[in-house]
Amino acid sequence: MAYKIQIDKKSCQGHARCANRAADLFKLNADGYIASEGFEVPAGREMDALNGAVSCPERVITLIDEQGQPVKNRNVLQAALDAKKK
Ligand code: F3S
Repeated sequence: MAYKIQIDKKSCQGHARCANRAADLFKLNADGYIASEGFEVPAGREMDALNGAVSCPERVITLIDEQGQPVKNRNVLQAALDAKKK
């Protein structure tokens, strides 16, 4: 199972900080608003996804772990990713 990004697309205000962190993950539409309501995070891009999520001042992006729980903290994510490698 992969990590997922959930996006409350209708609440996006077009700040574009998510795309500045990871443009290939957080694609914007022609008007500068987030284009997606969510996606599976490619393996190895979990920290980029979290960085994009926490950069949004409107808090419309949420990283969801493999157990379906939201992840908001880089240290917690890093520990989980490290544990997976063992
Ligand atoms: Fe929208 Fe937040 Fe990105 S307001 S464009 S989801 S930084």
